[in-house]
Amino acid sequence: TFVVTENCIRCKYTDCVDVCPADCFHEGPNFLVINPKTCIDCSLCVQECPADAIYDEKDLPPDQHHFLELNAELAEVWPVIGETSVPLAEAEDWIDKPEKLQYLER
Ligand code: SF4
Ligand code: F3S
Repeated sequence: TFVVTENCIRCKYTDCVDVCPADCFHEGPNFLVINPKTCIDCSLCVQECPADAIYDEKDLPPDQHHFLELNAELAEVWPVIGETSVPLAEAEDWIDKPEKLQYLER
């Protein structure tokens, strides 16, 4: 499966949504996750993300490994997002900032 990691938090560009052929993305207030039960491993979303936040689980950086479990957990409670929309207003300010997990809203 593919995994959304920390750099999506407080950005949520949503460019990933429209390219996904399997409606895998679920939306929270300031982060998206991929549902591992529906992801068909096409990899199309990876290059769409301006924040480079999406990885194949096999290529996850070690410090992002906990996002595998977090994506699976939040996909069970957040609704599917149907289409790409506008990024969060603060996206440009927060892209590539470290340690954003503390700002995750559920
Ligand atoms: Fe969707 Fe493909 Fe990305 Fe999986 S890898 S979330 S199926 S676009
Ligand atoms: Fe997040 Fe990147 Fe999608 S910032 S919403 S994973 S395009």
